[in-house]
Amino acid sequence: MSSLPTPSRPPARMAIFWDWLADAVAGIPTTLLVVGVLVLAAAVVVGYLSHDAARKRRAVERVPPVMRPGHSDEELEKSVLERYMAWGVALTLFFAVFFPVYWIYEIGRLEGATQEQYVASVVAGEELYQQNCSECHGENLQGGAAASPYEGDEPWPAPQLNNFVARYSDSENVSDVEQFLYNTIYWGRPGTPMPSWGQNAAGPLTDDELEDVKNFILANQVDETQSEPEETAATGEELYAQNCMRCHGGDLKGWNGTPQRPGHPLTEVFQRHSSAGVLSILRNGIIRSTTAVMPSWQQGYQHRPYADEALVRVVNYLRQRQSAEQLPAGEQQEMSLAEIQAMRESPGQASTGDSGSDGGSASDGQNSGDGGGESGGDGGGESGSDGGGEQGTQDA
Ligand code: HEC
Ligand code: HEC
Repeated sequence: MSSLPTPSRPPARMAIFWDWLADAVAGIPTTLLVVGVLVLAAAVVVGYLSHDAARKRRAVERVPPVMRPGHSDEELEKSVLERYMAWGVALTLFFAVFFPVYWIYEIGRLEGATQEQYVASVVAGEELYQQNCSECHGENLQGGAAASPYEGDEPWPAPQLNNFVARYSDSENVSDVEQFLYNTIYWGRPGTPMPSWGQNAAGPLTDDELEDVKNFILANQVDETQSEPEETAATGEELYAQNCMRCHGGDLKGWNGTPQRPGHPLTEVFQRHSSAGVLSILRNGIIRSTTAVMPSWQQGYQHRPYADEALVRVVNYLRQRQSAEQLPAGEQQEMSLAEIQAMRESPGQASTGDSGSDGGSASDGQNSGDGGGESGGDGGGESGSDGGGEQGTQDA
C-alpha cells in the first residue's frame, strides 16, 4: 500500500487546508477571535497610513526642508483641522457602536457558557445517579426499596425522588429545598439504608459530583404529589407496624433499643408532648438533613398521606403502649380527633413546653431546641452529631 505513489491532487490539498483552517478557527474562543480580528484590522490601517506618509515624505525629500511647501494658513484652519476632526468623529462613532454591540454579545456568550456548564452537569449527574442511586431509588427516580439493616425486617422503602421538590416545598419545616436535597445526599440518613455520599461524611463523591447529582434530580421533577389521603381501616397497631417500627422498634425504644434504630424512643412520649403535640409531629414530621428524619405522614413519603383519623389511631396506640405512670393526668384515656383538637385550642393544658400548638416551626441551619443534640448524641454510633446545617423542628 505505502509503496504506491500518491497522486498529487492539489484541489484535495486545498480542501484539507480549508478544513484545517476551519477547525483551527473553530477551536479558538470567540472572544479571542474578535480581539484578533480587531488587532489585525488596526495593524492594516496603521501599516497603510505609515506607508502613505512615507511615500509622501519620499516625494518631497529631494527638496531642502526650508523650501518645502507647508500648509497655508487657510488650509491649517480649515481642511486639515476638519480632516482631523472627521477622523475623531468617525472613531467616536465606531466605538459608540462597537462597545454596546460587543457588550450585548458578551452577555449572550456568558449565558450560553453557563447553560452549557449546567447541561454538562446534569449529564454527568445522570451517570452518577445511575451508578450509585438507581438500584434503590429506581432508574427513573420513581422510588424503590432497599434491604433493611435490621435482621428479619421487611425491605425499607426508598422514596421517590422525582417529586422531592413538590413534597418538601409544601413543608413548613424545610426552608430551602435545594439545600435540603444536597445535605440529605451529603450526610445520608444514618440508621437507615440511605448511605452518606459527601466526603466529610466518609462518602465517595466529591462536592462537584454531589452538585451534579443534585442538578440531575432537580432537572427531573414532576409537580404531582399524592395528595389524596389514603383511606385505611387499619388499626393503630397495624399502622405502627407498617410505618413506624423500622425506626422506633417494636419495643418503642428507638435508639435506646437493641438493635439501636434511628427513631426517638417513644416510651414516655406523653410526658414530653400532649396528644395534640404527638398528632402534630405525625402530621408535619421532624425534618433534618444530617440525621434520620421523622417523616411527615401528611406530606407523602413514599406513601399516600394519612388522614387525621388514621393518625389519631396511631396516637391512641402509642398511649396504649405506655404504663399508667408514663401518662400524665388528662392523658390517661383514649381520645377522639375532636377531643384532641379541642385540646389544642385550650392553652395551658400541655406539659413540658409543649403548648399543643401546631408544631413544625422551621429552624433551618441550626439545631433546634433539644432535638438536634439529642438525635446525634444518643444515636448510638450514628454520625449525626456533626451538627452543621441541620434542619429541625420541635413542637414549640
Ligand atoms: C442502599 C440503598 C440506597 C442507595 C444506594 C441510595 N439511597 Fe437514597 N435513600 C434510601 C432509603 C432507604 C431512603 C429513605 C430513608 C428514610 O427512611 O428516611 C433514602 C432517602 C433518600 C433521600 C431523601 C428522600 C426523602 O423523600 O426524604 C434522598 C434525597 C436520597 N435518598 C438520594 C439518594 C441519592 C442521590 C443517592 C445516590 C447518590 C442515593 N440516595 C442512594 C436508600 C438508598
Ligand atoms: C425514617 C425513620 C422514622 C420513621 C419511619 C418514623 N419515625 Fe418517628 N422519629 C424519627 C426520628 C429520627 C425522630 C427524632 C427526631 C428528632 O427530634 O431528631 C422521631 C421522632 C418521633 C416522635 C417525637 C418523639 C419525641 O419525644 O419528641 C414521635 C411521636 C414519633 N417519631 C412517632 C412516629 C410514629 C407514630 C411513626 C409511624 C407513623 C414514626 N414516628 C415513624 C424517625 C422515624
